[in-house]
Amino acid sequence: MKDKILEVKDLEVSFRTYAGDVQAVRGSTFDLYEGETLAIVGESGSGKSVTVKAIMGLLATNGYYKNGSIMFEGNEITEMKERDMHSIRGNKIAMIFQDPMTSLDPTMTVGKQLTETIKLHHDVTKKEAHDRAVNLIELVEIPEPASRMKQYPHQFSGGMRQRIVIAMALACEPRILIADEPTTALDVTIQAQIIELMNDLKEKLGVAVIFITHDLGVVANVADRVAVMYAGRIVEIGTSNEIFYNPYHPYTWGLMTSMPDLETEGKLLAIPGTPPNLLHPPVGDAFALRSEYAMEIDFEEAPPLFKISETHYAATWLLHEYAPKVTPPAIIVKRKERFSEVSE
Ligand SMILES: Nc1ncnc2c1ncn2[C@@H]1O[C@H](COP(=O)(O)OP(=O)(O)O)[C@@H](O)[C@H]1O
Ligand SMILES: [Mg+2]
Repeated sequence: MKDKILEVKDLEVSFRTYAGDVQAVRGSTFDLYEGETLAIVGESGSGKSVTVKAIMGLLATNGYYKNGSIMFEGNEITEMKERDMHSIRGNKIAMIFQDPMTSLDPTMTVGKQLTETIKLHHDVTKKEAHDRAVNLIELVEIPEPASRMKQYPHQFSGGMRQRIVIAMALACEPRILIADEPTTALDVTIQAQIIELMNDLKEKLGVAVIFITHDLGVVANVADRVAVMYAGRIVEIGTSNEIFYNPYHPYTWGLMTSMPDLETEGKLLAIPGTPPNLLHPPVGDAFALRSEYAMEIDFEEAPPLFKISETHYAATWLLHEYAPKVTPPAIIVKRKERFSEVSE
């Protein structure tokens, strides 16, 4: 395996509110390797955005690191001063958000914004900055880069704007690119184009990507590995194939059976119930209340991450050696069978 460039261990992040502390991230552990794309998936409110904002040192003012560690190039991010974090953010770790307009200045031409960003991070002349900006626009495959430089964000379509945001993020040649639902606001065909672009860029630049999405269809097209989050915890992590074709956590089963593909044949099964309130997270496996596979212990003690393979881990007591053997939903079994046929 390639070198680790980011190590997140037992991370806990909470937010102070009048009603009490919201425990948004409740002990997440994962690594990011050079040049890979790790997708983080899970329902809304599961702690995906907070996890990556914690990595960027961008927690809201009522948020705090409660426990755990985020190591990047020998730096402990949870203990860094804002001034030092500033030099990492946008320099070595860059982030793109769901809505491109939040990261673009509507009053400045795209060219000006790009050259300013480049000048901020590199010691270059005006001409060099300009040339680099043109190259970046070319890199994100926008036609006629030189004339596009003179235009304002509102003169670009949604998809083109997101390309500009990606170009801005790449201006500093980051080692990690974090994309938080970058295609959610776009229509389906444009989404696919942005995904393809991100895959091309990853190949070309060798940047590691953390890609957040609630859309499993998108994950299948981008991720080398997938982390599944539920109620502030990573409940399963593995390679894309392991998560899609051989998942072990009942929550992952639920997500997978609500994904349209050959086996579901349009009969999508939504996961019953709602995620827990993170002001008072339940003891034990937070998914137990919604799971038909729950056992007594699930309501008493949180399961550790059990190892399934060198790359595959799941936090469910079903993997304990004394647990009863259960059969996953039919769709999951069928998908696994189809995969083993294909890969033989
Ligand atoms: N500034 C904040 N104050 C209080 N609660 C917050 C704040 N930011 C996020 N949260 C809570 O943290 C939890 C995780 O949020 P988030 O990471 O945005 O979810 P996701 O990105 O998976 O949809 C949610 O319950 C959300 O309401
Ligand atoms: Mg989010």
